[in-house]
Amino acid sequence: MKNIVVLVSGSGSNLQRIIDCCASGEIPNARVSLVVADRECYGLERAEMAGIKTMLIKRGKDFSDKLDSVVPENTDLIVLAGFLSILSQEFTQKFEGKIINIHPSLLPKYGGKGMWGHYVHEAVAAAGEKESGATVHFVTAGVDEGEIILQGKFDIMPGDTAEDLAKKVHSVEYDIFPEGIRRALAILK
Ligand code: GRF
Repeated sequence: MKNIVVLVSGSGSNLQRIIDCCASGEIPNARVSLVVADRECYGLERAEMAGIKTMLIKRGKDFSDKLDSVVPENTDLIVLAGFLSILSQEFTQKFEGKIINIHPSLLPKYGGKGMWGHYVHEAVAAAGEKESGATVHFVTAGVDEGEIILQGKFDIMPGDTAEDLAKKVHSVEYDIFPEGIRRALAILK
C-alpha cells in the first residue's frame, strides 16, 4: 500500500477526488495517510470527514522545515492539490521525484509566482487564448517548472468568462489527476 500525503490550502475538491479514487481502486493500492494545510480551509474538514489524519501548519518562512518534520517516514508521494505556499529548495530537493502538483493552466503558459487560481483564468481569458486546461507535474525548486506528467485541455468558447474557465479547468483536473498520481506512483523508485 502506497502512502500519499496531500497538501491543501482551499476547498479541497481535488483532495476529495483523490480520496474517492483511492477508495474505489481507480488509484490502486494507495491511501491518503495525512493531509496538511497551510491555513484553515474546507480541505481539512473533508479529510477529517474521511477519517484521515490532518495537520495545520500556518504558512510562513519555516513552513517547509515544519512540514519536513511531520512527513511520515513511509511516505511514497507528496501531492499538492490546490496548495498555495511555495516549498523551500531544501524540501523540494530532499523529496525530488516524490512531489507532484496540479496547476490550472497548460504549462509552461500561465505558470510561476503569482499565477494561481483566478489570476490564471483571468489572464487566459484576457489573452484571448483558444484553449486552456490543467497540468500535473513534478515539483522542483522553480515554481511550476518541473517535468510535466500529463495535461488535459478543452476549447475556450466565445464569451467564456474567467469563472467559466475555472469550472472547466476543475472538471479537467478531476479527469487527469488520478491518472497523474497513478503514473507518478508507477515510476517511483
Ligand atoms: C485547482 O484549480 C488547482 O489547479 C489549483 O487550485 C485549485 C484547487 O481547487 N492549484 P480545489 O481546492 O481542489 O477545489
